[in-house]
Amino acid sequence: MSTAVDRRSLAADHDDRAARHSGEIRKLTSLLDVSQAISSPVNVRSAFHRVLEILERFHGTSRSVISLPSDEDARRLRLHASIGIRSAHSDAPLAATLAHQVFDSGRPVVVPRVSREPSLPGHRVRTDADERTYICVPLQQSRKSRGVLEVELAYKPDRNYDRTLKFYGVVGSMLAQAIKMQQLLAADRQRLVDENTRLRDELRERYDFSHILGNSGAMRQVCEQVIKVARTNTTVLIRGESGTGKELIAQAIHYNSLRARKSFVKVSCAALPDTLIESELFGYDKGAFTGAEQRKKGRFELADGGTLLLDEIGDVNLPTQVKLLRVLQEREFERLGGTETVKVDVRLITATNADLEASVANGRLRQDLLYRLNVFTIFIPPLRERKSDILLLADHFVEKLAAEHGKQVKRISTPAIDALVAYHWPGNVRELQNVVERAVLVSDGQVIHLHHLPPTLQTAEGSNTAESQSLGSAVAAFERDMIEDALKMARGNRARAARLLQATRRVVNYKIQQYEIDWRRYAENGRAAKE
Ligand SMILES: Nc1ncnc2c1ncn2[C@@H]1O[C@H](COP(=O)(O)OP(=O)(O)OP(=O)(O)O)[C@@H](O)[C@H]1O
Ligand SMILES: [Mg+2]
Repeated sequence: MSTAVDRRSLAADHDDRAARHSGEIRKLTSLLDVSQAISSPVNVRSAFHRVLEILERFHGTSRSVISLPSDEDARRLRLHASIGIRSAHSDAPLAATLAHQVFDSGRPVVVPRVSREPSLPGHRVRTDADERTYICVPLQQSRKSRGVLEVELAYKPDRNYDRTLKFYGVVGSMLAQAIKMQQLLAADRQRLVDENTRLRDELRERYDFSHILGNSGAMRQVCEQVIKVARTNTTVLIRGESGTGKELIAQAIHYNSLRARKSFVKVSCAALPDTLIESELFGYDKGAFTGAEQRKKGRFELADGGTLLLDEIGDVNLPTQVKLLRVLQEREFERLGGTETVKVDVRLITATNADLEASVANGRLRQDLLYRLNVFTIFIPPLRERKSDILLLADHFVEKLAAEHGKQVKRISTPAIDALVAYHWPGNVRELQNVVERAVLVSDGQVIHLHHLPPTLQTAEGSNTAESQSLGSAVAAFERDMIEDALKMARGNRARAARLLQATRRVVNYKIQQYEIDWRRYAENGRAAKE
């Protein structure tokens, strides 16, 4: 039988348990809210402020501060987010000494009655109702303190400090985790920015003038034109046969212009079917056509602030030409299926190997567009018209490609050089580069010989005789090549050349006569004198 007193105490016990239970639920709910607040910390400061708001609202913190080490001095804590602190007041933690102690030791501190702790601000309280409890926990992650959380709560004599501390400890380690994530993200972003700067510098270096080779008058003139036009915003038209280096020149213009730090975007108009070219250049809006599920920026937008190279401009269809004309005149356009007018600041360079005047004559190119494109024209002459560049370029490619393929090739034999110079190079510099690459790959020594070159180059005229060689003529070419090379090394001394070839003087002299080799040209200064 239970008495009334028993029943009352039972009821009180039940109430107590119910209150504790609801306290626990409140804590768990708050932890969930905290984890959500910091789960996508676009801005950590505002996420942290939200966490302090949660603590204020559901746990009655009167003042709360999160402090992190300052950028200048990692041992000093600076206020990062706070509630209940007048911002002008200070950027230091609530209780600087205690906060630093917690930060250094990684151990929390509880001051149940602030009024009894002289080092704490507001310790002189008048009534019990004004009494406060101070709690400071480290923001700890993998045993490393990344900051501290300080809170002030109303003083309650029956507060369970163990539980309270545990709760704030969990909040603290969640904040620490968010800081770590943020630091990783920032480091990643910095790495990308550095990488981007490095790549841009590398590109600029790659396309500065020292990489445009050519000592012919024609190439010097081209470089002078590039210098003259680069720093302006003038539209440039680059003309020249395939493989003459039009793209290289376009890049040199961009990387020597004031736009060098912005994008260089290239569109090969010939490679794009008519149906795609407009959307590629101008982009499209969502729903512009079936399959356009998202808005896509065109190359003009991507090149904003920089340079756009339209390669093979002669292949652009007439409707696109009308749009191009408008961009050139007004620097604006609409995306496909869009109504918004997009303004861009783009320097346009076009390149072509086609006869644009003929295209105008037969109606494939608008005359007014040609006028607009043709403001400043740079013409790159074909390689066969600047023979003095051939040797320079060939030597450059030997060095570059030998290194790339890990070969020992160092130089080109005289007969091979003669063949290179005699050839008419329909594919220009690109073809020369390919020929040298093949020769570097097939050569097994330090020298590129005539027989390492494609058959088209080995024949006397160097052109139009692509049929395969007979064994006799191949052996003769090889023999001649070796003798000329030995003569070169021996500086025209036939006896030494014979020793180098491990042959007798008589045999070597006989072959020199047979192949009509002019050995004098290899004597000291002989070659220079002849040239
Ligand atoms: N003067 C030069 N110095 C060094 N390399 C060159 C030179 N001219 C061309 N090249 C090289 O030759 C190759 C072809 O050049 P590029 O692509 O610029 O030619 P292109 O005129 O644009 O050809 P296409 O008309 O076929 O598009 C590239 O690898 C380029 O680096
Ligand atoms: Mg090109």
